[in-house]
Amino acid sequence: MTSAVPPHLELGQAVNEGLTAVEVAMREVTASQVDVLRDASRHILSAGGKRIRPRLLLLSYLALGGADMPHAAKPAAAVELMHTASVVHDDINDHGMLRRGKPAVNAIWGRTFALLTGDFLFTAVYELMAPYGELNIDLAQAATALVEGETLQASAVKNKHFNHEVYGRIIALKTAALFRAASAIGAKLAGAGQQEISVLADFGFNLGLAFQIVDDILDLVADEAILGKTSGIDIVQGRGVAVALGEGNSNGNSPPSDPLDTIKRKMLEGDTVDKARSRADLLVHSAIASLDSLPHTPAKDALIELAQQVISREN
Ligand code: IPE
Ligand code: IPE
Ligand code: MG
Ligand code: MG
Repeated sequence: MTSAVPPHLELGQAVNEGLTAVEVAMREVTASQVDVLRDASRHILSAGGKRIRPRLLLLSYLALGGADMPHAAKPAAAVELMHTASVVHDDINDHGMLRRGKPAVNAIWGRTFALLTGDFLFTAVYELMAPYGELNIDLAQAATALVEGETLQASAVKNKHFNHEVYGRIIALKTAALFRAASAIGAKLAGAGQQEISVLADFGFNLGLAFQIVDDILDLVADEAILGKTSGIDIVQGRGVAVALGEGNSNGNSPPSDPLDTIKRKMLEGDTVDKARSRADLLVHSAIASLDSLPHTPAKDALIELAQQVISREN
């Protein structure tokens, strides 16, 4: 595949067309007759979010010569709905009360309806993906990985065996698998060959790992108002990148009993955040390097820019 962008469209226009179609598809597929499901879905979808996963899918598609934006938009919407379902459930588990700068679904409707709204968003994925044959397998595997990652994390915290190695497995499953599915699906939709598909899959996977490490750093250092979600959760729950790198609770120690501010200060004074940042930088560099074999196109440049934003982001 050599051509990148539909000749009659600039890259920006193509991406915007795709992302607009993503919003329309998500809204249509969540139009339940049941008020709570419809209203809670609309609430979390219209609260915003960075839409990084559908952007990743669309750019991967464009970078490998895809040109039919409406066709790529439905799987991109499915990926974003799966992610949104996972954060609705995540806020129940993590007692998160703020999400995307707005009250979390559980904060408004309570835990039971948040659970059901997450289920509803997950099931909407089936409807969107029905016409896409084997691509359903990529998404199903990412959904399984996500649940496995969340479960592994909860049991590592419960059994107090949260360490560096376990952390790596957790972030690969709970976050990087869906990033990989997004980029691989984009490549497959464009009709790419096996070699190009695996280039994009590697790119998405490494980007996803870096994304979660940065997310965990932000959980530690960022202002809740800028972050738009409840912060400081990782330390309280004895997990996250700081715990994995040997601060706070690890390898059988009791959860930290200090007030959160004291623990945070200790970590910020040490080199925990720097170590985590270096790790994320390395992963982003290797994600970008994995694109070397692709032809130089505006979409490839945009993928590189997306990867750099993962490091520089503040929310
Ligand atoms: C948050 O993801 C959950 C993680 C996997 C870290 P995002 O930071 O992409 O959340 P939104 O969609 O922009 O709100
Ligand atoms: C990421 O986990 C959420 C999922 C992949 C389901 P976190 O619990 O670290 O995410 P945030 O920080 O609440 O968004
Ligand atoms: Mg969580
Ligand atoms: Mg959380």
